Amino acid sequence: MEIKKVAVIGCGLMGSGIAQVSAQSGFPTVILEATPQLADAGMKRITKFLDGGVAKGKVTPADRDATLGRLHPGVDPAAARDCDLVIEAVTEDLLVKRELFARVEAHLRSEAILASNTSSLSITEMAAATGRPDRFVGLHFFNPVPLMKLVEVVRTVTTGPGVEAAVTGFARAIGKTPIRTTDRTGFIVNRLLVPYILDAIRAVEEGVGSITDIDNGMKLGCGHPMGPLTLNDLVGLDTTYFIANIMFEEFREKRFAAPSLMKRMVMAGFLGRKSGRGFYDYSVEPPRPNDFLVGR
Ligand code: 3HC
Repeated sequence: MEIKKVAVIGCGLMGSGIAQVSAQSGFPTVILEATPQLADAGMKRITKFLDGGVAKGKVTPADRDATLGRLHPGVDPAAARDCDLVIEAVTEDLLVKRELFARVEAHLRSEAILASNTSSLSITEMAAATGRPDRFVGLHFFNPVPLMKLVEVVRTVTTGPGVEAAVTGFARAIGKTPIRTTDRTGFIVNRLLVPYILDAIRAVEEGVGSITDIDNGMKLGCGHPMGPLTLNDLVGLDTTYFIANIMFEEFREKRFAAPSLMKRMVMAGFLGRKSGRGFYDYSVEPPRPNDFLVGR
């Protein structure tokens, strides 16, 4: 089955990136949001990124305009009626996702494929709650979506023949490299990344090194583009905390247990870039490490 038209549900950080790369690669792309204001905010985020690309000479003004022209934001699920692929990228709440799938599915053709961008919830559980468990997959993108080359393609025991090939083809068509994985919490990347980030926080807690030194350790010693604490601030501490809790619940292994410093930072609203402070303070440029956290 060839994918010609796409819908993205949710136009937050991840959804806007997914919708952008889909439209940028030539796919007419419907955006479904809960309110017109949220749809508008998502379009503003996409426009800002594309404008940034034009300023950097990475995107031509004509490409930016054509991309924006292929995006169709709105709130009516009926707009997805002729879409071949619907990708959900809303809050990590199984009930919310299930309810959304039910509302959109009522308008879809029987061949349409549903996909979730979840990073930690069970694809099988979501698939089973729809009327098309054989046409349901995980498509896990990475933040920032327009710049990160990877997509995890998650199959389940119910995924039917041809569906994985269709979404893998779509991932390639939008310039991503797909990797195949099964429906185990965290898939491939978060299974490795989350314990690494949690260990970096434990190192801060124990006073093993300063925030800058821990980040520089991995940046300069291992060639990572950013250190684990900067990365955690980018992803959002609340997001990593949520994923860690689900992974701990599934595997019952200490390496997935959220450190108490992380729990306290989330409770205090230190969520990273999105709240203006996390391991770094983003009210100043360049961001200043919050070294008072070391040993707390
Ligand atoms: N439009 C087009 N291109 C742009 C752009 C824009 N608006 N903004 C930046 N770019 C291009 C730049 O021109 C540059 O291109 P070049 O390599 O050809 O020169 C490239 O993108 C990198 O941009 P910058 O130079 O501005 O920024 P950095 O070099 O600092 O890289 C980064 C930024 C790509 C975010 C890099 O730091 C990185 O890879 N960090 C790691 C991010 C990561 O690990 N993400 C995964 C998080 S985990 C996740 O999402 C899973 C979830 O489940 C938790």
